[in-house]
Amino acid sequence: MLLDKDLTLIAASKSFCRVFQIDSAGVPGRAFRALGSGEWNVPQLASLLRATAAGYAEVEGYEIDLNRENRESRRLVLNAQKLDYGDSDSVRLLISVSDVTDARIAEKLKDDLLAEKAVLLQELQHRVANSLQIIASVLMQSARKVQSEEIRTYLNDAHHRVMSVATLQQQLAASSVADVELRPYFTALCASIGASMIRDHNQLTLDVSVDDSITPADISVSLGLIITELVINALKHAFPNDRNGKIHVDYRSYGPNWTLSVIDNGVGMPDKSADAKAGLGTNIVHALTAQLHASIRVADAYPGTAVSIVHTQIASVRTPGPAAVRAV
Ligand SMILES: Nc1ncnc2c1ncn2[C@@H]1O[C@H](COP(=O)(O)OP(=O)(O)OP(=O)(O)O)[C@@H](O)[C@H]1O
Ligand SMILES: [Mg+2]
Repeated sequence: MLLDKDLTLIAASKSFCRVFQIDSAGVPGRAFRALGSGEWNVPQLASLLRATAAGYAEVEGYEIDLNRENRESRRLVLNAQKLDYGDSDSVRLLISVSDVTDARIAEKLKDDLLAEKAVLLQELQHRVANSLQIIASVLMQSARKVQSEEIRTYLNDAHHRVMSVATLQQQLAASSVADVELRPYFTALCASIGASMIRDHNQLTLDVSVDDSITPADISVSLGLIITELVINALKHAFPNDRNGKIHVDYRSYGPNWTLSVIDNGVGMPDKSADAKAGLGTNIVHALTAQLHASIRVADAYPGTAVSIVHTQIASVRTPGPAAVRAV
């Protein structure tokens, strides 16, 4: 719309007349407030336009609700520009009007959907955490009931594997984000393994040192499962005959690179000649390490064993091949 300084219309575009159902023939010479059936008679807007014409104000992104009888209200965004011809009598105001009703509805819908998604995700995480704890407790009860020592060991290990994921789920359910702080997670995880597998805490200690890393849930769950396998291995194999010792879990990152180590000062891995038989644990660690685009290093810790899972950017572009699976 083009208006003079008294807010009388000089012209209005065809699209404006069409959208707001205004008779274009009656536009020139009409007062802005008299447009349509009076729906444009908004005193606040009129005084703002007058101030703009006088050069005291500017109308930019001014929002109004246009209310017409028997029609839905529309949300409009107005911009007004003073066209100055250097002569105070021929001041012109150029007003542009955008109807943002549909865009606002779409935005609100998107916000509502995002909020709903966050609530659903948290609800899901609560349920998964609860279900995992039920599975873990069933496994533990079964382990207590069975007579065979071998089956009891299997059930106990399965219990730990489930608990390692349950601990993470508990942490996820308690927060609104899908990222996990590794220090509390690994500390809780090792405390839970230690509480059920270490009989004498004077004989064996399990400690954890982790930097301030925060990682997405899927990476955290893989790291947690690797720690579970390596710590259980150290507890089961490194300290035979009630040997004293300690196990240390360490995680540190350097930018995108990180190293996770589980170090024990036990008897060390069996001789190469005897070659340790790879069990389920080794397979789990290998599969998860490949998934994380990392590599495994097993070293003698004199005494004991140090297993490190190392992620470097070079490793991340190389997908590990189907190398022979050796015990970790
Ligand atoms: N920290 C360790 N100290 C000494 N020996 C170890 C250590 N970790 C692994 N080993 C040896 O490596 C072998 C393979 O470990 P792996 O985890 O694959 O199988 P497992 O622990 O025997 O069985 P599973 O993990 O399926 O319960 C073990 O049997 C053990 O001899
Ligand atoms: Mg094992």
